[in-house]
Amino acid sequence: MAGSDSVLLQVVDYGKLALSSFLALSLAKQLSIIVILPFLYSITWQLVYSMRKDRPPLVRYSIPWIGSAVQYGSAPYEFFEECNKKYGNIFSFVLLGKTMTVYLGPKGHEFVFNAKLADASAEAAYAHLTTPVFGKGVIYDVPNSRLMDQKKFVKGALTKDAFRTYVPLFIEETEKYLRDSKNFQIDKNDSGKINVMVTQPEMTIFTASRTLLGKEMRDKLNSDFAYLYTDLDRGFTPMNFVFPYLPSATNKRRDHAQKTISDTYLSLIQKRRANNDIQSRDLIDELMKNSTYKDGTKMTDREISNLLIGVLMGGQHTSAATSAWALLHLAERPDVQEELYQEQMRVLDNGKKELTYDILDEQMPLMNQMLKEVLRLHHPLHSLFRKVMRDVPVPNTSYVVPEGHHVLVSPGYTHLQEKYFPNPHSFNIHRWDNDSASSYSVGEEIDYGFGSISKGVSSPYLPFGGGRHRCIGEHYAMAQLGTIMSVFIRKFQWTFPDDATSRKSVPPPDFTSMVTLPTGPAYISWKKRTN
Ligand code: HEM
Ligand SMILES: *[C@@H]1O[C@H](CO)[C@@H](O)[C@H](O)[C@H]1NC(C)=O
Ligand SMILES: *[C@@H]1O[C@H](CO)[C@@H](O)[C@H](O)[C@H]1NC(C)=O
Ligand SMILES: *[C@@H]1O[C@H](CO)[C@@H](O)[C@H](O)[C@H]1NC(C)=O
Ligand SMILES: *[C@@H]1O[C@H](CO)[C@@H](O)[C@H](O)[C@H]1NC(C)=O
Repeated sequence: MAGSDSVLLQVVDYGKLALSSFLALSLAKQLSIIVILPFLYSITWQLVYSMRKDRPPLVRYSIPWIGSAVQYGSAPYEFFEECNKKYGNIFSFVLLGKTMTVYLGPKGHEFVFNAKLADASAEAAYAHLTTPVFGKGVIYDVPNSRLMDQKKFVKGALTKDAFRTYVPLFIEETEKYLRDSKNFQIDKNDSGKINVMVTQPEMTIFTASRTLLGKEMRDKLNSDFAYLYTDLDRGFTPMNFVFPYLPSATNKRRDHAQKTISDTYLSLIQKRRANNDIQSRDLIDELMKNSTYKDGTKMTDREISNLLIGVLMGGQHTSAATSAWALLHLAERPDVQEELYQEQMRVLDNGKKELTYDILDEQMPLMNQMLKEVLRLHHPLHSLFRKVMRDVPVPNTSYVVPEGHHVLVSPGYTHLQEKYFPNPHSFNIHRWDNDSASSYSVGEEIDYGFGSISKGVSSPYLPFGGGRHRCIGEHYAMAQLGTIMSVFIRKFQWTFPDDATSRKSVPPPDFTSMVTLPTGPAYISWKKRTN
């Protein structure tokens, strides 16, 4: 004890000496030391780290804390590609003070998506971003077992029977949009030019609200209420990943929007309860009937309201981006438009038959292949994260990812590898000719509490993720996107605008927002089909 006391005293003495020498320097020198110190620290840290055999190779960086944020943030796939060449398919990089370990390719899918619950946490990686937007008591603001139950409640509502009632509503909303939106007004115009990054988010929220929230909530979108969704959205950006609770005007508007939207859903739930008006119209009805956790606890109506926000948000950007990319690829490929048109005409008896869910699901393989190919080329979520909760060894390597670091998986990167998808950057709906199902399960299945899904996640194609956090909106999204695209294909032919300013090819991806979007403005011209 005496020994450690005297060591402590010595350290304190050195500290005092260092401080007094520092204070004796001129202000200019003091400042330069303050500036240089983090750099020295960072260089030393990188050196020591890179000598450890139990750590994956570290991507070198020059600016402390920032790390590789600029390269990764602006062009993640190029960044991964370069790192893959230099360091192999497992490497770590620094992103705004966090250490991220990337494992590229199908083995990485397995490593992250099938990580043990005690090893890797999605809520620890995402909650600070999502909880202010969705609200409390749902998704990542609850223990994983609660999330599994909440996913079960929602998935239980998204059945084929539900989709059979949704498809006519998707059609109705789409046709209404084409009549009423100033982007179309098809009763007055035979052609026009639209920005798909304006039209597709609108069509997505109208169709989703109509089916999942019911007519009353859909109709509110024609009023000032719509601005609240915009305000909520603005609080759901990569910036919020880093600074979720800044007292900024944007975050204040986000908080106000969250509360107002949640209050509105809550009043509707309470009204339905008061009137004993619980049917099978929408997700609200289903959650009112079916939201008792396994341990007997019931979700509160406030939690149901917040879950509705989370589910709508989960589907909004992903689906809007996917239909926007689909329209852009088809604008570039009139031949594919024609093929899809022929399929529509053949299956719908030249337009005499109404589209139904069963027809869309079973008889329109090309439509499904087209959407599948769009999701291959444009995975809406280029990176998915987990926070490491205890040291995790990487199988078949000497590496251990330590507690407190993050792991990152990127199926979107695998989707673009020649090895798995020959000629990966070409839009080829026929690469799926023998395989039109949006996804499928091969081999063993497993149930994490929200229905059984494929146990293995080493498929190179995982647009909807895998494991316990796998998407539950897949079939809903395919029905929604398939219906919107079916109406588009039957009614219009579209191209890139021939004015001087518009782009004439599919725009490059913009990776800086929450989902991978076409770099805007992304215009197409539409023209009514004559026959
Ligand atoms: C094209 C459309 C969509 C794509 C590509 C997509 C993709 C994904 C992916 C990759 C994940 C896994 C996230 C992770 O592992 O961190 C996920 C999870 C999820 N998605 Fe989707 N999604 C889509 C549409 C939807 C829709 C329409 C809904 C709701 C109706 C939805 C609700 C959810 C939910 C609740 C989760 C679970 C999150 C978790 O367990 O942590 N998604 N989605
Ligand atoms: C609740 O959902 C589960 C799982 O989807 C289903 O098996 C059950 O029948 C539902 N219960 C009610 C009352 O709807
Ligand atoms: C459609 O027609 C209306 C009225 O003639 C016009 O105001 C509007 O700009 C047109 N829309 C498009 C997309 O061309
Ligand atoms: C580890 O290596 C063995 C033998 O080569 C192989 O069978 C196994 O699939 C590998 N596991 C992982 C997760 O890479
Ligand atoms: C689909 O299967 C057929 C028959 O097995 C085969 O000839 C064809 O090459 C396959 N197409 C693709 C794109 O894999």
